[in-house]
Amino acid sequence: MLIFNTAKVPPFELEKTGSQNLASEDLRLKYRYLDLRRPQLQQNIRMRAKAVAAIREYFDGRGFIEIETPILLKSTPEGARDFIVPSRIHTGKFFALPQSPQILKQITMIAGFDKYFQIARCFRDEDLRADRQPEFTQLDMEMSFVNREQVYREMEGMFNHVMKLIGVEFPSEWPRMTHAEAMRRYGSDKPDLRFEMELCDLSEELKDTDFAPFRDTIANGGEVKCIVVKGRSDYSRKQTDELQEYAKRYGAGALAWIKIPVRTASDSDRAPDAGREKNPIAVAPGSDITSSLLKVLGEAKIAELASVAGAEPGDAVLIVAGKRSVVAASLGALRLEVARREDLIDRSSYKPLIVTEFPMFEYDEETDTYVAAHHPFTSPMDEDVELFKTAVNDPAQHHLLGRVRAKAYDAVINGYECAGGSIRIHQKEIQDLNFKALGMTPEKARERFGFFLDALEYGTPPHGGFAAGIERTCMILCGTENIRDVMAFPKTASAQDLMMDSPGVVDPGQLDELGIEVAE
Ligand code: AMO
Repeated sequence: MLIFNTAKVPPFELEKTGSQNLASEDLRLKYRYLDLRRPQLQQNIRMRAKAVAAIREYFDGRGFIEIETPILLKSTPEGARDFIVPSRIHTGKFFALPQSPQILKQITMIAGFDKYFQIARCFRDEDLRADRQPEFTQLDMEMSFVNREQVYREMEGMFNHVMKLIGVEFPSEWPRMTHAEAMRRYGSDKPDLRFEMELCDLSEELKDTDFAPFRDTIANGGEVKCIVVKGRSDYSRKQTDELQEYAKRYGAGALAWIKIPVRTASDSDRAPDAGREKNPIAVAPGSDITSSLLKVLGEAKIAELASVAGAEPGDAVLIVAGKRSVVAASLGALRLEVARREDLIDRSSYKPLIVTEFPMFEYDEETDTYVAAHHPFTSPMDEDVELFKTAVNDPAQHHLLGRVRAKAYDAVINGYECAGGSIRIHQKEIQDLNFKALGMTPEKARERFGFFLDALEYGTPPHGGFAAGIERTCMILCGTENIRDVMAFPKTASAQDLMMDSPGVVDPGQLDELGIEVAE
């Protein structure tokens, strides 16, 4: 017998399947080469290779040309911090790793390539989440002389081609929803449409209430909204408390509730939870609706709210009041959490959506400035150009920036933002104005983007495009909620590589050559 090599006993069992039986993720990441031998990861990494091949096949077939752009670059703002690389030859100067090839792909349009794509590495130093890594891959594309619909066609075409890998057929034209509608109905700019449970606005019914917290919130431009949880009038105090804690993580001050018991002959005149809870809830005489708001709003109002929300016997209504952004964030998150807890999501269904007309700017309370909601090269909607100009040029009207809509869009599948893009600014005057809106002096804009402002002056065609997250797309294809499951060598949630033990220290000599000293 010929023995090629011997093998040590692995530090964890590879055969075990099912996430509950796996060794700790840290241990598996340290021995990633062993973890990758697990059939599930083998399948995922192979699926990823197929997805990338399908994407190339799609764009190649559509006459797009693949162009590589550099990794050692200058800062390319996409809303995160840059990773920077010191230059040895130019001591004290730095490259930045691309957050995306955004500016360069626009320059390929100015250079006359008209249809570009690239499987591009991107680097962003930002807070990590289950679907975010510091280093990730995008399908990046750009086209000249296009409007939004033409870009949507390619976005739909590409995803539809890729989804065939798992036998899923999407409609050739995906449903569309404006950002405003998505926020209003789902409290999210990436709604998961695999289940309903839409947000319902109760502000109209509560604007004249004597209950000051609600009345004042609404008078100050806030709102009171709710979701209805079907069949959960039996939520215990402990459960509503847990949901309240969850909503508070997203900024909600409190979570109010209404429960409408199922009426049966035997229990129609008692509260469903009576006897089970330490603090029985006030029940109005003659009614079996219970609510944390019963004392302050009264039975008639509670019944009215329940009916406006469309709640039926057996349902629970969960209510949040506050600033619009807080109500959206907390109820939107609660909607997803309740769906997970109640097992409302059909895991075999796939729901695509294009979200359109994103706001051009987001207000940053900390710095009291407006920042680009997508990136600073995104074009305002034609209808909003005048509003944009007024808001930039008249300091007294600066707050109107918050109302300007952009030609920006996202592709959302099952609640994941799988791609984002926009029609770009192709005129220097508008680009100048946009940098000004973002608080950049002309000198600062020139220092950072002078090369690009110059390029815009040489007959730049109208252009637009999008970028799709390869990992997010593969998470959908592989049915996982952990981005590390679709990457061969991912980083941990604290941005470390446990196998190679990086980031690590470097030789003092290397630092000397770079003219860098590490502060204690
Ligand atoms: P955006 O920043 O929306 O747009 O990114 C495009 C897509 O890339 C994915 N993505 C990520 N995936 C994993 N980890 C991350 N940290 C991460 N950040 C983003 C998402 C997202 O939809 N230059 C523009 C595109 C354009 O305008 O054409 C851009 O990068 O799926």
